[in-house]
Formats: sequence, structure tokens, C-alpha cells
Amino acid sequence: MTSRRHVLSLLAAAPFAPALAGCAPNNLPDPAAGWRDPGAGETDPRRFALAHAILAPNPHNTQPWQVEFIGENEMALYCDLDRRLPFTDPFDRQITIGCGCFLENLRLAAATKGLYTQLNQFPEGEPTPRLDARPIAHVRLVPMEGYIGDPSFAEITSRRTNRNIYDVTRAPSAEQFEELNSVVTNTGEEYQGEVRWAADAEQVAQLRDLVWRAFEREMQTVGALEETFQWLRFGRDAIAEHRDGLGMDGAMMPLFKALGFLSHDAMTDPNSQSNKTALADWKKKAESAPAFLWMTTTSDTPNARMTAGRAYQRLALAAQGLGLSIHPWSQALQEYEEMADLYAEAKQLLSAGDQTVQMLVRIGHADPVPPSARRELGDFIRA
Ligand SMILES: Cc1cc2nc3c(=O)[nH]c(=O)nc-3n(C[C@H](O)[C@H](O)[C@H](O)COP(=O)(O)O)c2cc1C
Repeated sequence: MTSRRHVLSLLAAAPFAPALAGCAPNNLPDPAAGWRDPGAGETDPRRFALAHAILAPNPHNTQPWQVEFIGENEMALYCDLDRRLPFTDPFDRQITIGCGCFLENLRLAAATKGLYTQLNQFPEGEPTPRLDARPIAHVRLVPMEGYIGDPSFAEITSRRTNRNIYDVTRAPSAEQFEELNSVVTNTGEEYQGEVRWAADAEQVAQLRDLVWRAFEREMQTVGALEETFQWLRFGRDAIAEHRDGLGMDGAMMPLFKALGFLSHDAMTDPNSQSNKTALADWKKKAESAPAFLWMTTTSDTPNARMTAGRAYQRLALAAQGLGLSIHPWSQALQEYEEMADLYAEAKQLLSAGDQTVQMLVRIGHADPVPPSARRELGDFIRA
């Protein structure tokens, strides 16, 4: 008979494993369809660009993007305010980074059509302290003779957030780190900040410990657990139905559900066996990190966050091109009360000084992961 311990050890293997591409259940749409030949057959280049933009990384995969088409070649981008993460991201800093990632994909895709993206961030002013109903960007696509774009466009469909165990012995090389730095800081664009990394044993050990303790803190904070629970999608049906959020899939999912391991009560109780099991699993992930990389900005305005997101997406695509796996590990960067001491510790350990750490990632080599879910293109277009 399957013991409780055995069942829970299987549960540990399940978190955040997205649905397999091409395997949608019960006539529901395939949640991975958006990754295959995005924008194929689209005649409006804005729809082609949008089909690539929605493949951007974004916190909890809430996909908080709304686009309004204006005239023949313009678009306004809005944040879908209901798809933010107010507990763990109280100032919408990370959501704004995800919008920057979206814009970078959009720009790269438009360029392959010979279109230059004239981008105006926060055209009606920068909202503060949180995003509001005003547009977060205005985009005009203009033809440009001889404009062929950027080779990193080719990485958009293969980029993933990789949460597997990493090869602890295989950090990126110094040349690879320099390359990642150069795609962010040497592009002549308006990014004001730094890319730094750690691959030496002592600093990596300190960072493994920090990201782990911040993760543990989040798992002890009921408000954070409640928020995450809203975005967890258990099993193939739920993933295909919602096509957003953090998918957990596997053959054992129906059994876990039936046993109550995935219930609201179990998942939001810091002391539940389910959460203890997940914690043990994530500890192994932290301990497997061979290196970390982080990005800072000199200011923390909405504009700076958005520009950091665009830069992060360039970095993530370049990492993919170099055969590197990457995994944001953000808990210690989050600005909620229960995290305050670890936030301060992170700033110190990452030598951020007066700068804001916008992204902190585990980086190295890991087995590949399948793509995460995306909603249909039409879901992102305002009528
Ligand atoms: C600003 C930001 C913060 C993120 N923080 C985390 C994190 O702390 N842990 C994690 O596992 N993934 C994190 N992610 C990755 C997202 O969860 C991921 O992009 C999303 O689930 C979609 O998956 P994909 O990147 O494979 O397309 C973050 C992404 C962004 C843009």
C-alpha cells in the first residue's frame, strides 16, 4: 500500500511542473499552443508582435497585459490591475518588470517585420505608489529600411524559467557572465544600473542560504500563501482551463487532490505536511545553485522598473542562447513587512548600496523544462 510518506515524496516532484505541450484534456485548448509558431498567419504585425510578447516571463504567470490597438500602427499597453500580486508585490514593482519583459519581446518581434518600435513608457505620467488605470506604454511601429532586428528573437519560444535541480558543479563561465552583462549594459539604451554575479564558493553559499531562508519565510507567511494559492493550477484540466498561473501536473495529481494535500487549507497552512514537503524540495533546489546573478537600478521609479524588465528579458534570451538555465528567486527582494529583515540582508549581501535589486536569479545548467501556459491572444486585446 502507498504510504503517506511515499505519496508526499511524489508531491515534492510535482510543484510547478507545467502541462506537457500538446496534451490538452477534454477538448480544452492546449495551454502550450502559444509557444508553437506564434503569430503564424497574422497579417497585422501588431498581432504578430503580441503573440511573441505574451511569451514573456512574469510573476506567478498572471499575464497582466492588456493591449488596445489604435489606428493602423499604434498600441497602448495597460496593466490588468486584477492580475497583480498585492501581498508580495505591494508596489507592483515585479509586475512592472514583467510588463517590461513583454515590451522587449514585442520590440524584437516587430523588428523581424522591419518595424522599429517607438516606445513611450508611462505616456500619461508615472503612477505611484502603485500602477493605475493609465497606460503603462504607448507603442508605434514604424517601417525602417534595412532594419532586421536582433538574433535573440529566435530564443523567445525556447526561453523558460527553469526550476529544476541545477548541476552544482557547473557555473557559467566568466565569458558567459560578461556576455550577459553586455546585453544589458552595453546596448546604449536607457538602463541605469548594474549586472553582477557570484560564482565563488563563499558568496554562493551565502546566497543559497539567503534565498532559502527568504523562501521559507514566505512559506510561513499566511498572506503570501493565500496569494500564491489563487494562482496555483493543479492538474491538467485546471491548467488547460485557466492557461495562466503556476501549473502543477503529474500522474499522481488526482490522488493528491483526493487525499486533500492540495486543498486550500493544506496549501495555506504553514505547518501542513504538503508545505513541509514542498519546502524540503525547494531546499534542494537552492542548494544546487552553482551561481547567482542580480540586476540593480540606480532609481526605483516605474520607468526604471519597466526598463529593468526589458533588460532582464534581453538577459534571459541571451542566457537561453548560451545554453544556460535561469530561475528568478525573488522572495528576498519583496517589500512586505514579514520579509523586511531578509530584504535588508539581501541588499547588504548583494552590495546594492543605494541601488534597488530588481532581479536575483539562480543560473547554471539543468535539465530542460516544458513551456508554461499562456492564454489566447484575443484575451489580451481590449475591445
Ligand atoms: C519579476 C519576476 C519575478 C519572478 N520571481 C520568481 C520567483 O521568485 N520564483 C520563481 O520560481 N519564478 C519567478 N519568476 C518566474 C515566473 O514565475 C515565470 O516567468 C512564469 O511562471 C512564466 O513561466 P516562464 O518564465 O517559463 O514562461 C519571476 C519572474 C519575474 C518576471
